[in-house]
Amino acid sequence: MLLTNIKCLWGLRDQSLALRGVELAVLPCIENAYLRIEGEQVADFGPMQQLQHKERSGLTFDLSGQHVLPAWCDSHTHLVFAGSREQEFVDKIRGLTYAEIAQKGGGILHSAQNLQQTSSEILYEQAKQRLDGLKKLGTGAIEIKSGYGLTTEAEIKMLRVIQQLKKTAGIPIKATFLGAHAFPAAFKEDREGYIRLLIEEMLPVIARENLADYIDVFCEQGFFTPSETTQLLDAGRRFGLKAKLHANQLHNSGGVQVGVQAGAVSVDHLEHIGEEEIHLLAQHSTVATLLPSAAFFLRLPYPPARQLIEAGAAVAIASDFNPGSSPSGNMPLLVALACIQMRMLPEEAINAATFNGACAMEVQQEVGSIAVGKKANLIITQAMHSLAYLPYSFGTNLIESVILNGQFIPD
Ligand code: NIG
Ligand code: FE
Repeated sequence: MLLTNIKCLWGLRDQSLALRGVELAVLPCIENAYLRIEGEQVADFGPMQQLQHKERSGLTFDLSGQHVLPAWCDSHTHLVFAGSREQEFVDKIRGLTYAEIAQKGGGILHSAQNLQQTSSEILYEQAKQRLDGLKKLGTGAIEIKSGYGLTTEAEIKMLRVIQQLKKTAGIPIKATFLGAHAFPAAFKEDREGYIRLLIEEMLPVIARENLADYIDVFCEQGFFTPSETTQLLDAGRRFGLKAKLHANQLHNSGGVQVGVQAGAVSVDHLEHIGEEEIHLLAQHSTVATLLPSAAFFLRLPYPPARQLIEAGAAVAIASDFNPGSSPSGNMPLLVALACIQMRMLPEEAINAATFNGACAMEVQQEVGSIAVGKKANLIITQAMHSLAYLPYSFGTNLIESVILNGQFIPD
């Protein structure tokens, strides 16, 4: 397949290190370009003049005026869940806080109750449907967490659903064990008991069946303390799982320090960080993953993206798709929010949502940028004058089509 007369071909890079600081503002491109796909991969690209000397074969698509970008890499989601929580949404409008809702037995525990009662077939079908919707918006790789099970049976059920999705989805998927998402009601007075269950009962099954790539903990006041988090990350490591962390969402809870110390691949959320945490993230390879749609939906302060970038941190953005704090996995909207609310430049936001997202789930050799031999996972926009028009036109779908594994996905 040959794409010709592309107004701008963006995100050309062949490297493995996440983009930090000023590097984020650079989105390498070729104007008036062609791109050739063979099988599932990018085979060749360059300026149109060079195409004149080459043999043309296969299907050709003229993309005059249109832009081509790498598909989004959404490195933090809770895509497998049962039911929805719009009642809480209304409660929040009436003034209840996220923590108050959690204390009332709502929140994560409410989703866990729903999930425990839902069959794996239904969970799979619903997640598959959500994923198909996200692909149409340009998502070409995704991380999915457990954490709405909170019993051995239900956590394993969730992880097996993710494993099933890995086999059928046709895009790279990473699975994260988030049994430490909340303390189930039965263990409210026995925190150690639940941590023992996670470490002694769940982790061995997960390792035996190879059900997860990462371990995550909700390190937050009222949820898991920094020392409980460290204990769980250590246990995860013994079972071969690297760390990704929910850190500093509601308070400056010490999560960033714990994550960096554990060599986490990423620390995510970061609504409540200060100079010390920014400095730490600037000094370490741990990716700072910001989830602007969760901050938007919960009316939290946005994470300090500018300060992180200016200090030299590796910043990614992800959707946090989940029924409680971000019931949307719309990456174009997220890119717009990053620009509008966090003052990220369009190039920075796109790098954060593609290449750095890929780094935050360690799939950057395969996806996240356009390079010969990488997967042909591409977004084709409608005709537009400049790239900034994409986040500027927030809420308008400017994605005309999406190519995954070298094939157009059906509308
Ligand atoms: O990433 N912060 C913890 N977990 C989710 C929200 C979970 C929920 O409310 O169901 C998040 O925002
Ligand atoms: Fe999350």
